[in-house]
Amino acid sequence: MNYPFWDVDIGYGLLMASIAVIHVFVSHFAIGGGLYLVVTEWLAVKRGDSQMLDYLHRLSKFFVLVTVVFGALTGVGIWFIIGLLNPTATEALIRNFIWGWATEWTFFVIEITAALLYLYGWKRMSNRDHQIVGWIYFGAAWMSLFVINGIVTFMLTPGEWLSSGLFWDGFFNPTFWSSLVLRTGVCVMLAGLYSQMVASRYDPSDFKGRMVRFNSGWGLVGLVVVIFSFIWYIAQIPAGITSTASETMKLPMKAVSISHWSAAAIGIMLLIFGFIVPRRMNLLFASLLMLFGLAWFGSYEWYRESIRKPYVIQGYMYGNAIKVAQEEKYREEGYLQQIAYRTGDDGADLFRRACRSCHTIDGYLPLKPAYDGTEVEFIAGTIRGAHVIKGNMPPFMGTEEEIQLLAEYLHAQMDSRSIGEIYSLSGRKLGEKVYDLRCGKCHEFGGFNDKAESLIGLEDADYHDLLDMAGDLAEEMPPFTGDSTERAALIEYLKSIPEGGN
Ligand code: HEC
Ligand code: HEC
Repeated sequence: MNYPFWDVDIGYGLLMASIAVIHVFVSHFAIGGGLYLVVTEWLAVKRGDSQMLDYLHRLSKFFVLVTVVFGALTGVGIWFIIGLLNPTATEALIRNFIWGWATEWTFFVIEITAALLYLYGWKRMSNRDHQIVGWIYFGAAWMSLFVINGIVTFMLTPGEWLSSGLFWDGFFNPTFWSSLVLRTGVCVMLAGLYSQMVASRYDPSDFKGRMVRFNSGWGLVGLVVVIFSFIWYIAQIPAGITSTASETMKLPMKAVSISHWSAAAIGIMLLIFGFIVPRRMNLLFASLLMLFGLAWFGSYEWYRESIRKPYVIQGYMYGNAIKVAQEEKYREEGYLQQIAYRTGDDGADLFRRACRSCHTIDGYLPLKPAYDGTEVEFIAGTIRGAHVIKGNMPPFMGTEEEIQLLAEYLHAQMDSRSIGEIYSLSGRKLGEKVYDLRCGKCHEFGGFNDKAESLIGLEDADYHDLLDMAGDLAEEMPPFTGDSTERAALIEYLKSIPEGGN
């Protein structure tokens, strides 16, 4: 906690995602597009096809503009944002991979220089020199992927590095190769999809048909590589990580199914236009293809980022920048001791450092809907049990007093009316809401940590006993602190659920 906390009212997850998605999309497209340009140029020169060369010249203008301007701007943007959001994790990545970054930046400079020369060299350089510049561009761009891939995969699967601390162990980690092949496949696929946009603008003709068919081939080859390497990639991730994700993370799992549907849509459209009606390709279909490409890639990246939780570097540093090795120290000495920049409001500082990297009070992943109408004691109980709440959160590693301070701080910002009043509910409906707020974050019927067996089909007296003892059932489980109306409603709700599921 040696850095100040950047506290502005935005969801940090969303902020990061919005810039990272653009960058990742453009940068992969820059690599695949480079390969597409040089291979296609070589073919066109060999065949003496001036129409194709003309098409490539047209494509490369927009391509270089997009990759150089967007790629570079969003790349710098990412450093800017991660430096603000998680300076401690950024520091760890820089320290461990300093030569990796230096190598990557060198390739980046070569890549940009070659891209500009390539664009300038149409009509000004000999075919041979122009193609050499193109290959230098592609080679440098792919090498920068090679380097970044080592660092990005490291964050999810640091492997041997956790015990050895050696650069090469972290770099060539368990998911390095599968992810490299996967990302290379993505590059080729995106090149095929993007070049469809350019080809779609031509009037229907033999030439258009030929180019659309050719581009569909690129898209399909990329897609096939992507599908197989995705399966390989998932298999390389330690099973504990993926199984926890499928148990506790609804949204990231949805992302995976979005990615399957998008891949299917891309495959079907490419087959139809590539082999049946290539001349019918128009800007609308080409844009749709691009959109599915974005959806596929975006959901893959989302899944990959999500399953790393609660860590930012798996097994080494939590999402809120506390190193696993510091856990003992935090538990003994508390959070506040470790914060170099304290504001004087301890509750607020604790919230910022322990929760704010992921939650806001009432914006992105808000805490208000979870805590409105509850008590300090209940909130404190959920902080004590944060790591057993659905969502795979880091544990709270502070002292008992700090739990109280944080709970009081949070409670002061919540709606203090009763749950029934806030949501205008009574009877069974109120009971369902009470369950959702006071139990459902940790026990979902038919889902996460289901307790249906212990909760359905009891007698009134058993329910009362259970709620009286709630705080003693587990250290991480809060006591039942609702009033008698809530208690009666909760029991009414539980009794209304038929045995054997609802
Ligand atoms: C590394 C990120 C991260 C940190 C840090 C974090 N949480 Fe969470 N929290 C999550 C995620 C993700 C969920 C699941 C959200 C979902 O499934 O909708 C969640 C869920 C919750 C929920 C249930 C919310 C609901 O409506 O279902 C509560 C309550 C909660 N967190 C409280 C806290 C508190 C208090 C802290 C600080 C002590 C904290 N969290 C720290 C990521 C985090
Ligand atoms: C902050 C998380 C959390 C909340 C909120 C929570 N529990 Fe639990 N509960 C746990 C944990 C942890 C355990 C013990 C480990 C386990 O079985 O998963 C547990 C265990 C239980 C058990 C099993 C006890 C046994 O002996 O079989 C029941 C029943 C239960 N909880 C019911 C409830 C009810 C009802 C509520 C709401 C009034 C509730 N829990 C709220 C975390 C929670």
